[in-house]
Amino acid sequence: MRLGVLGLGAISPYFLRAIEADPELELTGVCDLDPRKLAPFAERGTACFTDFTELLDAGKADAVVVTLPNDVHTPAVLAALARGVPVCCEKPLTVAAAEAEVMEATARTTGTTLFTAFHRRYNTNLRALTGHLPRDRRDIVRVTARYHENIAEHTGGEQWYLDPERCGGGCLIDNGPNALDAVRHLVGPLTLRDATLGDVRGGAEFYATLSLDADGIPVDVELDWALETGEVKDVVVELRDGRTLAADLLAGYDGFKSSLDHEYVGILAEFRQAVAAGPDWRDPGPGLVRLVEEAYRVGRAKEPRLRMAAKEPVSARVVKLLFHTRDDRGMRLSPWASRCVAAGEVHELVTTVDRPRDPGDEVNRVGFLGFAEFSAATVLQRGDEVYAGDRRLGTVSGFDECHAPNHYNILIATDRVLGAADIDLRVGDHIRFAEAPQ
Ligand SMILES: NC(=O)c1ccc[n+]([C@@H]2O[C@H](COP(=O)([O-])OP(=O)(O)OC[C@H]3O[C@@H](n4cnc5c(N)ncnc54)[C@H](O)[C@@H]3O)[C@@H](O)[C@H]2O)c1
Repeated sequence: MRLGVLGLGAISPYFLRAIEADPELELTGVCDLDPRKLAPFAERGTACFTDFTELLDAGKADAVVVTLPNDVHTPAVLAALARGVPVCCEKPLTVAAAEAEVMEATARTTGTTLFTAFHRRYNTNLRALTGHLPRDRRDIVRVTARYHENIAEHTGGEQWYLDPERCGGGCLIDNGPNALDAVRHLVGPLTLRDATLGDVRGGAEFYATLSLDADGIPVDVELDWALETGEVKDVVVELRDGRTLAADLLAGYDGFKSSLDHEYVGILAEFRQAVAAGPDWRDPGPGLVRLVEEAYRVGRAKEPRLRMAAKEPVSARVVKLLFHTRDDRGMRLSPWASRCVAAGEVHELVTTVDRPRDPGDEVNRVGFLGFAEFSAATVLQRGDEVYAGDRRLGTVSGFDECHAPNHYNILIATDRVLGAADIDLRVGDHIRFAEAPQ
């Protein structure tokens, strides 16, 4: 098979070496926008192009490998499929499910092979783990996959990875497909249950957790782009009898990315089979594009910060103590979930065992701690943790504004109503408000 390689960046050497290692394959054309990357190939007499349509039209390739930036996959793959040239495309196949559907339709109508390169399914350690799985899948309690790395060590200096417009997102779209494919290869098709994105920098998430289900088996996938250095890529299977089986995908491959060599040989061997199978080959790539898109939909609808606090804790110094409790106070929950507080403002601290939820809900069973002066500006919000010294009092459940604009009653959900004497509070003590752990 005469192969063309579109894109000569960081990952291309693994394909080029795999082509060289396979006597059934011959590199006949390469394409890159950067002429410096083409020069060594021109010296060897390989046909060189800066425009992938010209490579495709030159008739020098029976099939192509696409190792272009994510946002260029769709035009390149469609150009190849439209010409009846089989494509092996790096993951993620595309950055949008709608584009993957157009690819599938074009592959179908032209009878041309579309193949996504998921390299981890050929990893020797993952394959060994597959062989050790119990026959009865009910014996599997949970599967966990981790894909942790420092993205700067993988980009080959190119900036498009950190541009969500070009990459399609962050670690979820970058490492999600390979991690998910590895797990899917182990335990079968996955359904998304939940997704959380965190540590968002410039619109790209550096951390993501996915919770999935493989026909009754819970699956957790954790993706991290911000490891200080090195890589953690493993899959752990917990069994009903208490044992765990694990595959460290990098074990035995000590050099940086050295496991990739055998995995990319595996990709091209299967690609040849897929081309031979013709229209019978069903590419698993579009399914994972859909799964990743669904995970973004779920994750982006939620609070994104996972690892960084969104605000600093703030202290309020007690300036007047209160001691009384009431069970008929008739406060009303304000509609606001958060309130800005300026440095130097004084507000009243009220404990309550009532659990108001909706604006206007009554708050009757209350204890009064006193008034406190905030040392710094902050945004107080429902759910904030409240501490007196080391003692956790409870969480902010909202605000009552019956004394506004003089001051707010900050309602603190506690296990029992507390006045100042109940916690031995003194004038000058500090009450601390901290963001709840996420
Ligand atoms: N780097 C990795 O570890 C890794 C691993 C697995 C998969 N991948 C995937 O492989 C693909 C390529 O990644 P990479 O790290 O090699 O990227 P890269 O930026 O290092 O290489 C991309 C190459 O494509 C060229 N290029 C860009 N636009 C072009 C165009 N329109 N026409 C021709 N050439 C063009 C660039 O000049 C560059 O040489 C991505 O989809 C990525 O997700 C990368």
